[in-house]
Amino acid sequence: MNKVRNDTRGPGRDRLTIRSGTPEENGARPAGTISRRSFLHTGLAAGAGTVAVGVLPSRAEGRRGGLTKGDEAILRFLSAAEILETDAWQQYNELCGIQDSEVPGGTGNALYTAALSVLDSDMAQYVHDNTEDEFTHFTFINAYLMAHGGKPVSLDKYRTLPSSKATGAQQIGRLTNLMKLSVDTTWWTRYRSRNKNPDFGDTFPQAVPGLVMGQFPAIPRTDADLAPLDHLQAIANTAGFHCAMIEQGGTSLYPSLAQRVTDTEVLRVLLSIGPTEAMHFQTWQDKAGNAPPLTDPTNGLVFPDLNSPPFGGEDFQTNLIMPEPTIFLDRKFPVCSIVRPTGTEGAAMGAVKFLTETGLFVGQSAEFFAVLTELAREADAARNEGDQGGDGEGRGGKGRD
Ligand SMILES: [Fe+2]
Ligand SMILES: [Fe+2]
Repeated sequence: MNKVRNDTRGPGRDRLTIRSGTPEENGARPAGTISRRSFLHTGLAAGAGTVAVGVLPSRAEGRRGGLTKGDEAILRFLSAAEILETDAWQQYNELCGIQDSEVPGGTGNALYTAALSVLDSDMAQYVHDNTEDEFTHFTFINAYLMAHGGKPVSLDKYRTLPSSKATGAQQIGRLTNLMKLSVDTTWWTRYRSRNKNPDFGDTFPQAVPGLVMGQFPAIPRTDADLAPLDHLQAIANTAGFHCAMIEQGGTSLYPSLAQRVTDTEVLRVLLSIGPTEAMHFQTWQDKAGNAPPLTDPTNGLVFPDLNSPPFGGEDFQTNLIMPEPTIFLDRKFPVCSIVRPTGTEGAAMGAVKFLTETGLFVGQSAEFFAVLTELAREADAARNEGDQGGDGEGRGGKGRD
């Protein structure tokens, strides 16, 4: 089976190895090379030994050579975003997902897993599959970058944050912090609004106002967090809303950046990964809606009944998991069921700022933020250099009136 695998066992796990595929492939080409065709159609293949992708040729015949500076910058930012997503998801999977050869690490936490299963009995499977998807996202993007002469992204040196001490978690350095989160839940009301759109400057109320009024764990910090029951359930509920918050971000990020991609194949990469983020978001939105109303007895965090006054109705009703149609591009057009936001100006920096404000990187070094900010700045500087004039202007910004 042809597979791209990243090594998850400690430092250097972002480093790709390619197990090369058929004997024909291996015999026909110099060691360390692989055809673009086989890369794209067989997914980087196997066989005798591993091949360093850094020496792959850049773009094949018929292309304009390597990636444009802008396309590389967009792919590099997305790779970083996916590495960060993966780091968060891996922490969830160790404690409440299925640990197997597809997503190794961790041994599971039975009580936390049971609390998550209140949201849906298949939560462990969904957490596992979401985690595996994120691994493949950054692994593919890094391999694609290298195959076309671009620089892959590694954030390994910033894996400095502590792991949960609860039963089930690996004790390794982390990039993200799931233990001091201020979870933004405006995505809930944003996707239920029929007349507002963040691309028009609109703002949205929180579904769970308490979650942005402090810092809360989305995973048990130690086994002491496994009781009392409503405290543990509050942690599981927090995870339910946090998972959706992360994935709605990816759902917007890909179409936002795709508007400034130049090469049609790079566009294909973004258009093919982006919708999987929407599939994740859709799932998590449905699960978050099953979070039982409660008050955490240890800190007063309230999860309201979103189906009862003063909640309920179109803005909060839990079974409204399809996007309500809303204004798009210009108010003169009829409303449309869409991803929102998708404005392209400053999309990468917006994502960094948003995630930082939610506490996902609490404890990270100044250097980490500098690196992430630079990746975002370069991605936001990218401009579509398309064939129709190439005036250097991005296509975004419209509709932000
Ligand atoms: Fe992803
Ligand atoms: Fe994702």
